[in-house]
Amino acid sequence: MTLRAGREFLAIPGPTTIPDEVLRAMHRPATDIYSPAMNGMTLQLQADISRLFASSGRTYIYIGNGHGAWEAALTNVLSRGDKVLVLESGLFAAGWGKAAAGLGADVEVLPGDWQRAVRPAEVEARLRADTAGEIKAILVVQVDTASGVVNDIAAIGAAIKAAGHQALFMVDAVAALGCVEFQMDAWGVDVAMSAAQKGLMGPPGLGFVVANARARAVHDTANMRTPYWDWTAREGEQHYQKYAGTPPIHLLWALREALDMIFAEGLPAVFRRHELLAGAVSRAVEIWASGGGLRFSIPDPAQRSRTVTNVVLADGYSADALRAYCSDNCGVVLGVGLGALTGKAFRIAHMGHVNAPMVLGTLSVIEMALAALNIPHGPGGVQAAIRYLADAVPAT
Ligand code: GLV
Repeated sequence: MTLRAGREFLAIPGPTTIPDEVLRAMHRPATDIYSPAMNGMTLQLQADISRLFASSGRTYIYIGNGHGAWEAALTNVLSRGDKVLVLESGLFAAGWGKAAAGLGADVEVLPGDWQRAVRPAEVEARLRADTAGEIKAILVVQVDTASGVVNDIAAIGAAIKAAGHQALFMVDAVAALGCVEFQMDAWGVDVAMSAAQKGLMGPPGLGFVVANARARAVHDTANMRTPYWDWTAREGEQHYQKYAGTPPIHLLWALREALDMIFAEGLPAVFRRHELLAGAVSRAVEIWASGGGLRFSIPDPAQRSRTVTNVVLADGYSADALRAYCSDNCGVVLGVGLGALTGKAFRIAHMGHVNAPMVLGTLSVIEMALAALNIPHGPGGVQAAIRYLADAVPAT
């Protein structure tokens, strides 16, 4: 006996649920990639992506996932042997740093751990110690989906400024863009990147890089540049030049529709929806954790991401068994634990095309799994989430 008939619900941190409108936007024949209309669509998409990042910089759209956009960002501004400082807070900044090392950068990691955000004061101290200005770039993620942490990009930007350091500030916003605020110009970010398959509700396959004027100037002398990722080549007038080849037109139609949905809801409303749904998940996990069988991966509530919540099970309990129960019996697919948390954690994504029934339904299935698997947990987590949302969304 299972209860999993109907559409499977994906609660993993990317790819996320693709809205039907976005799926339908791709259901059309290919068209002339050289037409002025298609070129115009790309120009508008670039402007709209810059708007999401709150940046006056230039946007480049790549056929690629986040790892592709990492490489695009690095190769356009670094030269071989450049020193790069990686601000560790889980898996992904470290992964970006590994890519930089593979491309020939000299990578130093400012160690963090999987239970907390990057400390801006430590960044400032390291930069002040770099009196020779050897560090050319600083890499950090806004949200690390493996640890579940959110880093304070504004505070890190302020720390770099306070140190008076000239390194480029480069931020991965893959698991945050379109869900939480990002203020590229105001926060002093020089290069930011993201991808389509998380908060932007699209199919995997598009990556974005935004560069401000300072980064664009560094690009002119960077020697890590390669033909496919190169910004200069992509600044050509022709539509195909903007993609170093055939434009991914179906993915562009999907992106257009997704951005239209986001702008129609309004960014403040989108951010507030994510805040409230994350708050509901937090309330439920807090109650469950009181039973001793599980805990948040990030103890400080202020450092928990509003796009994904990572839950670590106590020794002796299997996160994979819990995930399997939810998926096999109820059709709810939770994220696996990654890296240091493999097998020990599960992840509840609440990013992109999510609403109250999706989140409350997911929480209910998890609570059902905790009960069925006899994992000690405080009772009433879902009720606490409902109470929280009812208080936050009063009757008018
Ligand atoms: C990918 O980003 C993931 O967190 O699984």
